[in-house]
Amino acid sequence: MSEKVFIFDTTLRDGEQVPGCKLNTKEKLELALLLEELGVDIIEAGFPISSPGDFESVKQIGLAVKNATVCGLSRSVEKDIEAAAAALRYAVRPRIHTGIGTSDYHIRYKFNSTREEILERAIAAAKFARRFTDDVEFYCEDAGRSDNEYLARVVEAVINAGATTVNIPDTTGYCLPHQYGEKIAFLYNNVPNIDKAVISCHCHNDLGLATANSIAGAAAGARQIECTINGLGERAGNTSLEEVVMVIRQHKELGLHTDVKPHLLTAISRKVSDTMRMPVQPNKAIVGANAFSHSSGIHQDGFLKNSINYEIINPAEVGADGSKIVLTARSGRSALAFRLKELGYNFDRDDVDALYETFLQVADNKKEVEDADLEQLAKERQAVAADHI
Ligand code: KIV
Ligand code: ZN
Repeated sequence: MSEKVFIFDTTLRDGEQVPGCKLNTKEKLELALLLEELGVDIIEAGFPISSPGDFESVKQIGLAVKNATVCGLSRSVEKDIEAAAAALRYAVRPRIHTGIGTSDYHIRYKFNSTREEILERAIAAAKFARRFTDDVEFYCEDAGRSDNEYLARVVEAVINAGATTVNIPDTTGYCLPHQYGEKIAFLYNNVPNIDKAVISCHCHNDLGLATANSIAGAAAGARQIECTINGLGERAGNTSLEEVVMVIRQHKELGLHTDVKPHLLTAISRKVSDTMRMPVQPNKAIVGANAFSHSSGIHQDGFLKNSINYEIINPAEVGADGSKIVLTARSGRSALAFRLKELGYNFDRDDVDALYETFLQVADNKKEVEDADLEQLAKERQAVAADHI
């Protein structure tokens, strides 16, 4: 039996912090309903104290979403927590996400404080949040660079104070996967009451390691992953939802599963990209335009013999349009013959050999040979053949 990893989507909070990605209430609501349909467990809907518009968005999402938990962010400040609670008052399953920086960098240079003072503030915030809901998540900001012994003290204390989930963010995307995994394992081995809370991974992608770090955290025992559609988020982004979901599906040996419906991943990726006006890079794993495209001759030949040679995911599984054979100057005869056949031309081997020479001349002058170019080449070849009859 595999164990469930809760998927905490923060597209509408961390993702929306990206410059240019700001959403209005209607847009947020529409995406929240799609996230619920996708099967995420928790939707972080916004940061209610930050603006009246965001307060309203969290409130509307709380009213509309029926199955997923709806979460609002706050700092370890009473008025933030009160605003989050007020925005969430109509939610069926409200969660307050509060927290504070626990690295020495944050303690000294952000709060001009001490470890002991920060510990007290953390305890007070968790206790205060529990006055409003039984579902309190506490984030130890910059946990990735926090001292493990001190982090363990904070985690133990906030669980005692009422936190039911404890988030261990690699806020600056600094950790290597084995370091992040060891940090989670350290907490499991050194926090006596750790079984009273869910431990959550929240990783940023500054070194391109967010997904790897989240998976390392889950392999070490964390049972919640915080992520965003298309990996949107502060700076280089957050862990990408579609990546963690598919890693967990592909690697059964992890012994984990999520409740996300994979066939909806491509559609929601496109919707988020359109709504946030943020294009998805073509080579993005799972949802990029080239994720199932094959363009070099060696790959195309192997793919056409059996897709398993070059695809570990069936595009239909993630709702993608299908595999694509892209014809370029690096393509081989088998890909050319395949595409011509798809276009309705049944040329023999000699014809394909002859066509391939002309094809390469066209391909050397273009990035991609389109169907219209092939039609033209095929018609010319048919005309030559007719002349020889
Ligand atoms: O990256 C981070 O530490 C955060 C917290 C506010 C959870 O986004
Ligand atoms: Zn973050």
